[in-house]
Amino acid sequence: MPKTKFPPLAAGNWKMNGTLASLKETEKLMRMLDGKSPACDVMICPPFTLLFPMGEQLGDSIIAMGGEDCHWEPCGAHTGDIAAEMIAETGASACIVGHSERRADHGETDEIVSKKAAAAHRAGLTAIVCIGETIEEREAGRTLDVISTQLKGSVPDGSNAANTIIAYEPVWAIGTGHTPTTEQVAEVHAHIRKELAGIVGEEEAQGMRILYGGSVKPGNAAQLMAVENVNGALVGGASLKAEDFFGIIEAAYL
Ligand code: 13P
Repeated sequence: MPKTKFPPLAAGNWKMNGTLASLKETEKLMRMLDGKSPACDVMICPPFTLLFPMGEQLGDSIIAMGGEDCHWEPCGAHTGDIAAEMIAETGASACIVGHSERRADHGETDEIVSKKAAAAHRAGLTAIVCIGETIEEREAGRTLDVISTQLKGSVPDGSNAANTIIAYEPVWAIGTGHTPTTEQVAEVHAHIRKELAGIVGEEEAQGMRILYGGSVKPGNAAQLMAVENVNGALVGGASLKAEDFFGIIEAAYL
């Protein structure tokens, strides 16, 4: 199994969930992780409104923080958008870009995702670039082609193992309770690693983390995280409650 340059990452994507009251979950997670040394990095990506208070709350704990999206420009007339530089100012160290919900809800193309990932890099953030096929694409036997196209279009020049993480999230596995088989995950992750070599070079491709996302739960985390070329998880629903997210970390990395 290629040894990536960095530990695996368990990242929670809170999506459009969470108010100030939800900070009690991060408080609880900090307590649960206190004195433990998981064999993974831990991160939470809350909605924009929680970045500042959560950043203060997390302080120098082992839990890192990321944004869920960013605009590609550093500032300007883009009502309602948030620049990567603004996210960096909150204490965040990463930003998700190209989540399938943004691709679907906001028409984000690979080109836009690539510009957003480059903006994250510009602001000193690690870009977590999401890719994944729909059920129609899988059933048509097009999964690997779709993944290749998304990777080539979404990973910008200047990407390397330190500033970029890939998240493979089959659209049909997100929020559905359905997960691919370990063979299907292994096939796609190996393909991603191979395709990355042509984009960022062999050495950076070997070092780059490739997360799996889509219905990761405490009960399936150990099995999914043990798959070759899986270097962590991007967790939606099960990251909202400290017990569940801790359960995933515990099952796979403690
Ligand atoms: P679920 O874990 O809720 O399936 O969501 C996965 C996801 O989209 C993470 O970005």
